Amino acid sequence: MSENIESVLTEKRVFEPSEETARAARIKQADLDAMYGKAESDHAGFWADLARSELHWQKAFSEVLDDSEAPFFRWFADGELNVSENCIDRHLEDRGDKPAIVFEGEEGDTATYTFRDVHREVCLFANALKAKGVEMGDRVVIYMPMIPQAVFAMQACARIGAIHSVVFGGFSADALRDRINDCEAKAVITADGGTRGGKVQPTKKGVDDAIAGGCKTVSTVFVYQRAGNEVNMTDGRDVWWHEAVADQPAECEPARIPAEHPLYLLYTSGSTGKPKGIQHSTAGYLLNAVVTCKWVFDLRDDDVFWCTADVGWVTGHTYVAFGPMACGVTQVMYEGAPTIPDGGRIWRLTQNHGVTVFYTAPTAIRALMKLGDDFPNSCDLSKLRILGTVGEPINPEAWMWYYQVIGGERCPIVDTWWQTETGAHMISPLPGVTPLKPGSCTRPLPGIAADVVDEEGHSITEPDQGGYLVIKKPWPSMLRTIWGDPQRYKDTYWPKFDGKYYLAGDSARKDADGYFWIMGRIDDVVNVSGHRLGTMEVESALVAHEQVAEAAVVGIPHEVKGEGIFAFVVLKGERPEGGYDEKLVKELIQWVGKQIGPIAKPEDIRFADNLPKTRSGKIMRRLLRNVAQGKEVEGDTSTLENPAIIEQLQGRS
Ligand code: WTA
Repeated sequence: MSENIESVLTEKRVFEPSEETARAARIKQADLDAMYGKAESDHAGFWADLARSELHWQKAFSEVLDDSEAPFFRWFADGELNVSENCIDRHLEDRGDKPAIVFEGEEGDTATYTFRDVHREVCLFANALKAKGVEMGDRVVIYMPMIPQAVFAMQACARIGAIHSVVFGGFSADALRDRINDCEAKAVITADGGTRGGKVQPTKKGVDDAIAGGCKTVSTVFVYQRAGNEVNMTDGRDVWWHEAVADQPAECEPARIPAEHPLYLLYTSGSTGKPKGIQHSTAGYLLNAVVTCKWVFDLRDDDVFWCTADVGWVTGHTYVAFGPMACGVTQVMYEGAPTIPDGGRIWRLTQNHGVTVFYTAPTAIRALMKLGDDFPNSCDLSKLRILGTVGEPINPEAWMWYYQVIGGERCPIVDTWWQTETGAHMISPLPGVTPLKPGSCTRPLPGIAADVVDEEGHSITEPDQGGYLVIKKPWPSMLRTIWGDPQRYKDTYWPKFDGKYYLAGDSARKDADGYFWIMGRIDDVVNVSGHRLGTMEVESALVAHEQVAEAAVVGIPHEVKGEGIFAFVVLKGERPEGGYDEKLVKELIQWVGKQIGPIAKPEDIRFADNLPKTRSGKIMRRLLRNVAQGKEVEGDTSTLENPAIIEQLQGRS
């Protein structure tokens, strides 16, 4: 099929689970088979059983899945429960004195909060919110550094049924203002400042600037004192967190929340237009958060879990603020840069806090890999038992390094595919059960009807033929809508296949074993002479060259081929003078030709010190496309981590 996306990358290595991990696994192959069987024969019933056994309900549900207004699905709609009660109160009796959060700041300061401590902090702050008139259904924006109070704030909102929206603390005041206004937030929760890279980031000032630009709905700004930097407090609007909780009772009844009540909004930028407020539900969302923590991370009572994601991203919601808390495990939280004071920080944190399950992003793995093996080798990482990755396809080289150097060839790597919109893991290996292939997220989890289909929506049965990644049945933690814009929800996620399948926006292929390989976003596809190539595969080939640390590939118009490939490359060593080195360009072009085939050879390559990335580490290909085509950079660059890099790429610095 010519319009299908052609796959050119073949990775043949397979890593079977060791006998030991297979024996230790919570879910065995037979259990997994039974789960698939049950989900296949009774999809809604499969999820209903889990919802009953995994969540604590204040009022049991009788309705399971309501699809009468598809694609606006409702799950467990007549039930009532409280997320905060499920995450905290449930553990007080058995685990009240167990550490819930072990926190470390960049300067080495530490703080430990037991579940009882978390309960107290959350109740106090929930009462403070109520005292300022925040009620069920009101929106509250959280703009904070990566400190435990960010989690307390999220949990406190959940406790009273306020809908929180976390805006990543590194976003600009403009980005913050747009989000506050889009959701018409009544209150903002922030901190004076946070510390990253040895510098204090003036978080509260960002809120002041945002509101000065016009945020009419905000009546209260809560300010947690963290960095001790000077801040302006506006009378009648701003209140210190510690003063707001001072007279509050340390008990706050968890509100009875209808299952479909929105738990939070999280804004993601689309390829065009204003950010989308992805709306998540209460019960369905929590259910997938909990079960994936158990299935994929195999979390148990004696685990120490560390997910390095900031609470500003969905990963920091599902796998910091909610999932691990609901499972009652101890987790590590770190505020600061991964390389302060040196490249060993992450591994020392892992060693010192006895981390057993570690979850991070490929971009972080590649960055740490670039610093060499000495840092991890000088730490005792023997307590680690499971490693995870998320956010983009992991190239096999980085996978192998993670597996060998960090995991000592002992720890399964769970390469988890999911999205802000899906709420929780969708496609992922189960540790100790699924044989691993570097670069593949393997198979859909039970109850997740993921598939790869062609333009007409037909399942692609031939192995290694690329197509659209879709989800064919609703699942509990799916987004419910885009806040305030149901039409955009329909247009974005259900535009094809008669609106029957959820369109993830990624291209993927399945191999002969039914393993899924994510090839990139649909709009990251380059069409060379009628062959649609996933950019990720070309990037992966480039990164496999010994001198290359990172690569990003975009399409440029080509007279003969339709589109040609243009590559941006970050070398392991110095950037060549002027960003160009003819000999190396030729060598790399040949290299890709050899790795993948002549079709994938880049037309040209430019070297840079870095790539333009969002704060969550995603390469902004839209900008690279502009640069490669010699155009001015268009559109929003406010979420860019390193704006100066654009100048360099354009050859202006
Ligand atoms: C990409 C992050 C390959 C994918 C949880 C998806 C991945 C987008 C993987 C969602 C993975 C995420 N392998 N690609 N394991 N995980 N992606 O909303 O393109 O920030 O659509 O959610 O990241 O990014 P988001």
